[in-house]
Amino acid sequence: MSSGAEVIELSSDDDEGPAPGTTALARCAPSSPPDVKPHLPADADVKPLLLPLPLHPPGYGALVPVKTEDPVPVPVATASPPPRALPPPRLCRQFWKSGDYVVACRNPDANAPGGRNRLRINPKFLHSNATSHKWAFGAIAELLDNAIDEVNNGATYVRINKFTNPRDGNPSLLVQDDGGGMDPEALRRCMSFGFSDKQSDAFIGQYGNGFKTSTMRLGADVIVFTQNQNNWTPTRSIGLLSYTFLMETGCDDVLVPTVDYQYDLTTASYIQMLRHDQKLFSSNLGILLKWSPFASEAELLKQFDDMGEHGTKIIVFNLWFNDDGDMELDFNSDEKDILITGAHKKLKTNKAEKIAKQNYVSSRLRYSLRAYASILYLHVPDNFRIILRGCDVEPHNIVNDLMYRECVLYKPQIAGLTESSVITTIGFVKGAPDIDVQGFNVYHKNRLISPFWKVANNSYGKGRGVVGILEANFIKPTHDKQDFEKSVLYQRLEIRLKEMTYEYCGFATLVR
Ligand SMILES: Nc1ncnc2c1ncn2[C@@H]1O[C@H](COP(=O)(O)OP(=O)(O)OP(=O)(O)O)[C@@H](O)[C@H]1O
Ligand SMILES: [Mg+2]
Repeated sequence: MSSGAEVIELSSDDDEGPAPGTTALARCAPSSPPDVKPHLPADADVKPLLLPLPLHPPGYGALVPVKTEDPVPVPVATASPPPRALPPPRLCRQFWKSGDYVVACRNPDANAPGGRNRLRINPKFLHSNATSHKWAFGAIAELLDNAIDEVNNGATYVRINKFTNPRDGNPSLLVQDDGGGMDPEALRRCMSFGFSDKQSDAFIGQYGNGFKTSTMRLGADVIVFTQNQNNWTPTRSIGLLSYTFLMETGCDDVLVPTVDYQYDLTTASYIQMLRHDQKLFSSNLGILLKWSPFASEAELLKQFDDMGEHGTKIIVFNLWFNDDGDMELDFNSDEKDILITGAHKKLKTNKAEKIAKQNYVSSRLRYSLRAYASILYLHVPDNFRIILRGCDVEPHNIVNDLMYRECVLYKPQIAGLTESSVITTIGFVKGAPDIDVQGFNVYHKNRLISPFWKVANNSYGKGRGVVGILEANFIKPTHDKQDFEKSVLYQRLEIRLKEMTYEYCGFATLVR
């Protein structure tokens, strides 16, 4: 996790006293709402906790909004020696590199209670932040990435399925993995902005934003169930990021009701874990029961039944509709797939080459999640399964589709330094040149960023049927991971791939 001098975070449950926005909260979630059952039915495996637990360090995302900011103290002018020049800022002045800022040492003010000097986040930001994902499957990919990133924590599968909301019968999206799960602190970081626990190159995630942008792009609300065994005691946590709740109740800050449970050895069951006090727990639970698909605590906790010992289950509900008023994700046309409504256009021709193109993965990935997921990772980790609607997704290695394959070494250079070397596999896709497919599948850290990136000018048919695959770790993906930052290295790569296409066309003509 990283944090800078200015931290954007959700309101903390360690803030004290009433605060602006509390009125809205009190209106929508009195501390003892009628449908809250702080005590469970006798057959449930969760018992209310009677003894206060040791308090955890300040966390994020509970129900007390940020307080009015205290005035920032103004330094008193004294006859001091002339000001010395400030040390040069360590922040890189190059835009594309300034995101790599490493915090030198933690600012002690960051721990100050009361949310002093902190930015607040209006709930509308959830929506604007999510617009970075222009494509619904790009958003689903973020959730798959988070599951794959859990392979080192034991993940062996990710399941993507339809979940019927018991409250209204509407389809919701379920994404579940058996990774390490999150402890209460980690869940709060997950639901905050810009915090990423992934500091090494081994992970796909890096920006600390994918969960928020993707879930809010897919639907208005998301509930997360997560179970973790890393600490001295196993925990279960449930968090709700609900645009509906925030909008309907006029909250002017992003409140994320979260409840935690911990394993109790004496009763061999999970019991309520009070990070603050019973009142706050009940208040959070009340909001969860009112605004999530689950109307009782027992129903909520039942969601852990199929989760094994650790893992995370995400349910995105109140899925968005498209401009025609239809649900954007289509669960009905193919029971083994999830499609994008309206994206699959029926061909009005019998031409074999058109049909071949339409059936090729380059076209299908635009509307079929199964097709997209089949090429999303260059190598799916051993023993890891992507299970879409009950059926495994078969990885599709584009290299196997290529004839007259060539491997081309490219050494991107910047300021005279060799940054790295990349091998591009290039060839004619089977069916070429009749099949009008071309472009490079550019992966970054194993994850497809640019599918069939068309670099060559096709006006004279040059490059038609030429397809390449490479893993370009020397350039950086944009925040939606659907494109790359337009850095100098990127531009050079584009030129090189164009040349490569034309060189290959010349070579292939000779060979054929
Ligand atoms: N399925 C999951 N299992 C365990 N931890 C998760 C899961 N999903 C998210 N997290 C935790 O939440 C954090 C935030 O997730 P998020 O997707 O927002 O950011 P990220 O993956 O770190 O970076 P990026 O924005 O590039 O995706 C992650 O760093 C990880 O610690
Ligand atoms: Mg992520």
